This record gives sequence, structure tokens and C-alpha cells, in this order.
Amino acid sequence: MQRILVIEDTPGVLENVTDTLSMEGFEVLMANHGLLGLQLAREERPDLILCDIMMPGMDGYEVLSDLQNNSETVSIPFIFMTSKAEAQDIRRGMRLGADDYLPKPFKPEELLAAVRGRLEKQSRLSEQRLRGLSWRLVDAQERERRSIASELHGQIGQVVTGLKIVLGTARRLARSEDALRPLDEALSLVNELTERVTELSVDLRPPMLDKLGLLPALLQHFQRFTVQTQVRVNLRHSSIDQRFLPELETAAFRIVQEALSNVARHTSVMQANVQIWLDDNALSIEIQDEGGGFNLDAALSSAEAIGLYSMHERASDTRDGRSGSVCMHKARIECGGLICGIPCTIYHRSI
Ligand SMILES: Nc1ncnc2c1ncn2[C@@H]1O[C@H](COP(=O)(O)OP(=O)(O)OP(=O)(O)O)[C@@H](O)[C@H]1O
Ligand SMILES: [Mg+2]
Repeated sequence: MQRILVIEDTPGVLENVTDTLSMEGFEVLMANHGLLGLQLAREERPDLILCDIMMPGMDGYEVLSDLQNNSETVSIPFIFMTSKAEAQDIRRGMRLGADDYLPKPFKPEELLAAVRGRLEKQSRLSEQRLRGLSWRLVDAQERERRSIASELHGQIGQVVTGLKIVLGTARRLARSEDALRPLDEALSLVNELTERVTELSVDLRPPMLDKLGLLPALLQHFQRFTVQTQVRVNLRHSSIDQRFLPELETAAFRIVQEALSNVARHTSVMQANVQIWLDDNALSIEIQDEGGGFNLDAALSSAEAIGLYSMHERASDTRDGRSGSVCMHKARIECGGLICGIPCTIYHRSI
């Protein structure tokens, strides 16, 4: 339930506003003077504040500027209610950071329209901020993975190759069987290290994704996935044997990777079906397994559903790298019956 704080010193007005809002299902916090209003705003963090201007003691302007100076209350939408609806008052309130102005006397419909309009705007703003933030997180994680993968492959890989050459030379120069044995052991350990470094680097960011694109990277991933988990992957695809924008290739690859890892972790099936197809200007992905299914809404609302959430984020936001604009498209994530399908639609622009 959304909570609205009403700060008003005239009892009749306070009562009317409170009744109108309560009848519409809002929870109302009442303050009959500025200081109490300020205290309630800090303690209760309401979703919106309606405040009178002319009040004895602390007036509405003082309440507003105090709220604006506090990082915890600065973003609460604030509407002034006043009978002194003169231009210079309105401007002063707006300059201080008020979001709206409601001249008294007002009708219940006017009050509700102002409150609803402001709450909707605030919720759109918060959604946009959250979306921007989660996109930046996903993006930063991908850049970090790419840089660690290339560091592993380049710097560490070079040192390990150097070590292998030195050990090979030492082996050729060795004069006795006793000297050969530890060198052979060292060489086999170095070979194992090379494999581990390569595996780690591919896990972080498959080089094939950047070099050859989505389809080859997926085929390579399916092979490794089956070896590691014994789960077979059936792929059906159409029109994806081409290069797309890097952001799209990354998003699609990560969505499939995460969904398959869920199949291996949360079901006991031995097979998963992946379908990827391109139609018009959208790439669609569907991953199915015939395990027990799960309640998607419940899973998504859990704070721990990082995997599902990041799939959703990647499908929702695909950044056009060249123009810097963002193509927004809500992913449709579904889960029905025994089959868990995750169809995602991502805007596409081939390069
Ligand atoms: N294919 C699936 N079959 C059954 N349950 C699933 C499947 N995919 C996801 N789930 C359920 O949804 C939950 C959330 O999945 P999500 O990928 O977000 O998190 P996770 O796999 O538990 O952890 P991580 O954040 O490491 O991926 C899982 O814990 C699981 O209960
Ligand atoms: Mg997961």
C-alpha cells in the first residue's frame, strides 16, 4: 500500500485530504505542523508528501529545504498545497525542489489526479534508474570477464609457454634417468596448468564469441557442457549463422549459458532443447527441459534469482554500440507445465 504524508495545520483540510486519500486505498500519515511532518518523513519515508505552505512555526518552504538537504528524503515526491497560489510562491516552491503545486481549494478529483500523476512518474523514474543500474552492472561484469580472460590467455599463457620451453630444454640436457623423472613430472604439471588456464579463460569469455560469433561459440559451449554435465543439447536454429552486434551476441550467448547451467543444476534430465531463430528484426531464444518446471514469478521475485534476473536484463536491454542508444524490449519469460521454456526476444541489427 502506498503511503502519503500530509502536513497541514488546518484541521478541516487535514481531515478532508486524509479521508479522500484513505478512501482510495492510500495509507495516510498525518502531521499538523512542519516539525512533526519532517520527523515523520525521516522516520517513515513515505511515497509522497503533501504539504501546506503557511503554517505556524516551521513553514512549508523550511520543511521542503530540510528534506532536500537529506539524502534519504531528497527523492520523495513533494506537492505543495496552498491558498496563496500566486506566481511568485509557485516559483519559489519549484526552485526549492517541489514537484507540483495544488492550489486550495481543490476538489477530491484534483487532489487524486495530482497524487496519482506524481506517483506514476516517480515509479517510472525508479524503474528507469534501476534498469540503467542493472545494465551497467551486467556491462561492467562482461568487460571485467573479458579483461581477465585475455590476461589469463595472454600474460599467464605466455609465462606458462616459456616455462614449458625451459623444461623441454632442461629435459634434452638431462644426462641421467634420475634427472629426467622430475622434469617429466614438471612438464606434465605444466601441461595440466595450460589446460586449466585455457578452460578458465574460455569459461570467463569464450574467445570464439568475439572471433567467430554466436553460432560457433554456442556449438563449442554445448560440447564442453555435455562433457562436464552429461546433459545433451539439441540445437535447432535458423538464420543465425552470421555476425550480429557484439552486445547481441554476448546477450544471447549468456542467456543460453545461464539457462543450460540451470538445467544441469536444478533438474535431473539428460537432455535440453535450445531453439534460436531470427525473424523480422528480432532474435528469439527458447530453452526447454522436461524437468519438473518451476514457478517463474516466485523465482524471479526471490532476491537470490541472480541468474534468471540477469537473463531478463540481458534480453531487456540491448545496446546499440555504434549510436550509443538503447533498444528496449521486454523479454517474455514463460514457464508452463512440465516444460520450462524461456523465450526471449532481443532486438537485432546485423553488422
Ligand atoms: N530449468 C529449471 N528447472 C527447475 N527449476 C529451475 C530451473 N531454472 C531455474 N530454476 C529455479 O529458479 C531458481 C532461480 O534460478 P537462478 O538461475 O536465478 O538462480 P540459481 O540457479 O539458484 O543461482 P545462480 O544465481 O547461481 O544462477 C533456482 O534456484 C531454481 O529453483
Ligand atoms: Mg542459475
